[in-house]
Amino acid sequence: MSPPLSSTSLALPTPAEALLDEARALKDAPVEEILAWIEGRFGARAAIASSFGVEDMVLIDLARKHAPGLRVFTLDTGRLPPETYDLIEVVRNRYGVAVESFFPERERVEALESSQGYFSFRKSLEARKECCAIRKVEPLRRALAGREAWVTGLRREQSVTRTAVEVAELDASHGLLKLNPLAAWTQREVWAYIKAHSVPYNALHDKGYPSIGCAPCTRAVKPYEDERAGRWWWESREHSECGLHPVR
Ligand code: ADX
Ligand code: SF4
Repeated sequence: MSPPLSSTSLALPTPAEALLDEARALKDAPVEEILAWIEGRFGARAAIASSFGVEDMVLIDLARKHAPGLRVFTLDTGRLPPETYDLIEVVRNRYGVAVESFFPERERVEALESSQGYFSFRKSLEARKECCAIRKVEPLRRALAGREAWVTGLRREQSVTRTAVEVAELDASHGLLKLNPLAAWTQREVWAYIKAHSVPYNALHDKGYPSIGCAPCTRAVKPYEDERAGRWWWESREHSECGLHPVR
């Protein structure tokens, strides 16, 4: 008699697991093809996560042409620089795209600011992560609820924490497929696309900010510094993630 099947051997793959191999096969495909595949497989059940940095602008511009059904969402932490809000309006008007905004839970922000002030993130790594957890990580969970895939502008070249980023990954913590179509792109390639297609971009990029997050946690970099050196600049590089993406 054959042994009873264990419950794990009976478990069906999730939609994300079922499509992972197919997505991974696109690892060297042009970005247009990757986006068209995402559109074909998921349509509005997939969304681009956009901080409106230069990579996200490339994705939004390409998606309008090759994957117009993809949604776009942003995590409005409440501490973004005014230039980012300006750009969001430009994107809404120029591309006619709806930008879904996810804001942190009011009670948690009120408790944080009331008990620890407005710059608690400078006090320690733990305090900084607590702020990111409230303003970014929890809203991301809501932004991804009900979706099957999300698309990011992550690139391997961006930092020591991102050298292992793949075009297609399983996001086990949200149970989704995570697609990073620009994983292999260089900063030079990103800017070449922006210029060639007259894509709008954040005004801070021309003021020495290659990477832009919340205003109090981002500063301009010196010419010899790496592109994420202005993010949480008071911490060491290996901590330069906010919890949206795993540290690898
Ligand atoms: S991060 O540390 O802020 O996550 P980075 O600014 O390099 O890093 O962003 C990497 C990618 O994460 C972006 O291309 C985008 O897909 C996503 N992302 C970052 N911040 C946000 C945000 N505020 N809203 C939506 N997506 C975001
Ligand atoms: Fe808070 Fe700074 Fe993280 Fe923004 S980047 S959520 S302000 S710690």
